Amino acid sequence: MENNFDREVSVEDFAESFGTTVEDIGQECREIIKQSDFKYRIIKGKERDDVFLSVLKKLETDRQVIGAPERTDQWEKGWNENLQEFLKSGGEIGKLIPKFIRPNQPIRFMGEYIMPSNSNFEHDYFSVFRCWLFTKYFKDFNDIYEFGAGSGFNLVPLAKMYPEKNIYGSDFVPSSPELINQIAKKFNLKIEGMLFDMRHPDESYKIKPGSAVFTAGTMEQLASDFEPFLQYLFKNPFSLCIHSEPIVEEYDENILFDYLAARFHRKRGYTEGLLPRLKELEKEGKIEILKIKRLFFGSLFMEGFTLIIWQPKKI
Ligand SMILES: C[S@@+](CC[C@H](N)C(=O)[O-])C[C@H]1O[C@@H](n2cnc3c(N)ncnc32)[C@H](O)[C@@H]1O
Repeated sequence: MENNFDREVSVEDFAESFGTTVEDIGQECREIIKQSDFKYRIIKGKERDDVFLSVLKKLETDRQVIGAPERTDQWEKGWNENLQEFLKSGGEIGKLIPKFIRPNQPIRFMGEYIMPSNSNFEHDYFSVFRCWLFTKYFKDFNDIYEFGAGSGFNLVPLAKMYPEKNIYGSDFVPSSPELINQIAKKFNLKIEGMLFDMRHPDESYKIKPGSAVFTAGTMEQLASDFEPFLQYLFKNPFSLCIHSEPIVEEYDENILFDYLAARFHRKRGYTEGLLPRLKELEKEGKIEILKIKRLFFGSLFMEGFTLIIWQPKKI
């Protein structure tokens, strides 16, 4: 297939995707945009049919069950691999890139399957998003907690952006906090790794007053069993909560492109019902939802980055 990359993601496109203005995309994010290759072409015709076919075949053959007991071992093994590679490389940050970010694949963008020119398009796009998100929303918080922090992939850029802030990363498998603590030591960053299972929250792990909390692709892993975590949060005096998660309710299932993503989401058993639950809590006057924005960007099978920002209401 001829690769005529005739389009390029512009600052305007990023602003639209994040649900903000062009002026809101700051210098640091523009630097990442400038340094990355965001050229792509839209997949059309027979090639598009082939993508649909491969997605349908994947739907039939995929056997992954989110939240199943064997998944715990898989996460432990996965982060342990990143840990060993990180140590062996003498502390290369590139070794923290989670292996579920797959290079060289068609991906979903603005309602189309696209073929990027750059094999790391998904990673680089996420880096721009993360840069914008952290700059805009975490500036005024001294304590920031990521739950389900994995390899510390988000925490390192966060700590580099704000070296004076206290950053906490927890996860339910030990290799993750171990890796996070090794990184913190190696680069002298103010990040602290902790073991914490969001389905069985340890209430002795306290969130400091006025903190920000975030999750990235982790609520999805709770197989819809998110209520214990929400109740845990409500027992703590945090001020802001940000999720970047696949939200099945945001797809338009009357469109084949979205229907397939929703099917994939449900087939694996990623979390459902989080957004409706937050809307219910808002109706009850317990929280205020500040932003809901589907990015219209994702991997081949689904979109993992819908942004939800909410805060508890002071009663
Ligand atoms: C898709 S990864 C995302 C990791 C990281 N947030 C990132 O953006 O790179 C999902 C993470 O959720 C963690 N996880 C799964 N179930 C969990 C649970 N019950 N409690 C806490 N973390 C969990 C996994 O170990 C993994 O690190």
